[in-house]
Amino acid sequence: MFLIYFLLGLVTQVSAPDACPKCGSMEVPYPLSRGDTCGDPSINPSAYKLVIEPPMIQKNTCYSAELAFGGLKLAENLPFNISTHNTVLLFNCSENILLSPLNCSSTSYCKEYEAEERESGCKDTLCCHFLKDASMTQYRIRVRVGGCRAYTSVVDLKPGDPVDAWNYGIELQWLPPNLPF
Ligand SMILES: *[C@@H]1O[C@H](CO)[C@@H](O)[C@H](O)[C@H]1NC(C)=O
Ligand SMILES: *[C@@H]1O[C@H](CO)[C@@H](O)[C@H](O)[C@H]1NC(C)=O
Ligand SMILES: *[C@@H]1O[C@H](CO)[C@@H](O)[C@H](O)[C@H]1NC(C)=O
Repeated sequence: MFLIYFLLGLVTQVSAPDACPKCGSMEVPYPLSRGDTCGDPSINPSAYKLVIEPPMIQKNTCYSAELAFGGLKLAENLPFNISTHNTVLLFNCSENILLSPLNCSSTSYCKEYEAEERESGCKDTLCCHFLKDASMTQYRIRVRVGGCRAYTSVVDLKPGDPVDAWNYGIELQWLPPNLPF
């Protein structure tokens, strides 16, 4: 009996992520985090950022799971935005994308993705990438019929990084507290 409890205890310890200690009187529910040892490590409280997973590109197709919803939209009245560490790759675009300032050249990162990601149906599409910089909206990544139909995002992509080392994710930032405006 004791052994069973002991084993159960071990299993729960392994599978249940550690919740963080309270912040004042407020619970900090998983996956929110206050440090390296609790919550979800993809949330970095000291750098005011967290990374979410980009939506699946449906297997063997080139559509985003979010196509019907227009892509990713953050509420503008909340203190989160899409950080400038994201390189966004757009696939299966319409010709009119070429009028945009995005990088749709044959050396674009999206071409590397198309060549290397075997599960993806995005092959030889008109595709582009851009760095999410401050000159564009920090609240949405748009996909639509008539525009680009699939996207993914890579955090801290550096030139020369091989595709299998890319860190897929969408890094969101929030405003540090107590900053005077
Ligand atoms: C890309 O989009 C077009 C037009 O919506 C669609 O017909 C085509 O199947 C898409 N390509 C792939 C690989 O899914
Ligand atoms: C497009 O991106 C690639 C990869 O970063 C870069 O080598 C190339 O110079 C860019 N081309 C344009 C036209 O910006
Ligand atoms: C996004 O949020 C960060 C942190 O709050 C801020 O420094 C940055 O200026 C914001 N960018 C935009 C375009 O709002």
